Amino acid sequence: LEEYSFGRRSWLYKYRGFVFPNMFFHQIRDIHTFDVREDDIWVVTYPKSGTTWVQEIVYLLMNDLDTEKASRTNISLRFPYFEFMEPGLKTIAEMPSPRLIKSHLPLSILPNQIKSKKPKMIYIVRNPKDVVVSYYSFAMKFLNVVPFNGSFEDYCQLFVSDKVDYGPWWKHVSEAWQRKDDDNVLVLFYEDLHLDTHKQVKEIANFLGKSVTDKEVDVIVKYCSFENMKLNNSVNYEWMKDAGVANKKVQFMRQGKVGDWKNYLSADITKQLDEMMATKLPPDLFERITDS
Ligand code: A3P
Repeated sequence: LEEYSFGRRSWLYKYRGFVFPNMFFHQIRDIHTFDVREDDIWVVTYPKSGTTWVQEIVYLLMNDLDTEKASRTNISLRFPYFEFMEPGLKTIAEMPSPRLIKSHLPLSILPNQIKSKKPKMIYIVRNPKDVVVSYYSFAMKFLNVVPFNGSFEDYCQLFVSDKVDYGPWWKHVSEAWQRKDDDNVLVLFYEDLHLDTHKQVKEIANFLGKSVTDKEVDVIVKYCSFENMKLNNSVNYEWMKDAGVANKKVQFMRQGKVGDWKNYLSADITKQLDEMMATKLPPDLFERITDS
């Protein structure tokens, strides 16, 4: 475990080649030894890749499209964030099957039993240019607890230098890509979800062993549209404002677009990200990244 910090940002740790916020490390052993169940369903991503969108789709598929039930309870309770302190590993360990679990941990740092129990796992990849714009907005504008005084350009520079939480991005996505042909793994792309949400929902349903009619898929697509999710208090993280950790004027559901990076990234950062993708990703994954 290597401890380090940069700028005035809070302490981060480097562990097995990845950078993590310090708050997870008191429980790293519990993470590794956590009891996984074969019927768990995990949604795993590098942050800001469309996790919440896919969580809500999976929740509806696993709960007979009960939108009323979905809207009643905060997604953090219905579909908990594995390594986060709330609700915490102990609570997740006691949840009834089938558990729906979200994690941003790279595959190599998920519980050891993932390899033997082989629960279904959906991993989402998003173009890192849109990821960095979204992550900056989330960590530095939406959240009000991260003590980083740098500029957006500084943040992007940290991202391309592999010094942003959960990074390196390329290592995170490459690990999942290596497992893409495993029966229990489904790798999706945020950009494909945009292009044809209906088709992607069907693919998720198929992977989960749920048969759905076109009409039912339409219900899910509509309920999980960006516009609806933005207004849906069970998924839009507005409660973080009530908890005092997020800014009242900023929204978690920011733009929900593909290619918004063009409005923000400098030519230099764009070049560095292009280089990073070309040199560090497996070629077949590089080819799959939509760069519109
Ligand atoms: P932007 O910041 O680019 O708008 P995560 O859930 O992994 O934190 O990802 C958040 C990103 O996904 C945000 O991107 C958010 O707006 C976008 N998003 C969330 N729900 C969405 C939806 N239903 N459709 C499209 N994008 C969505």
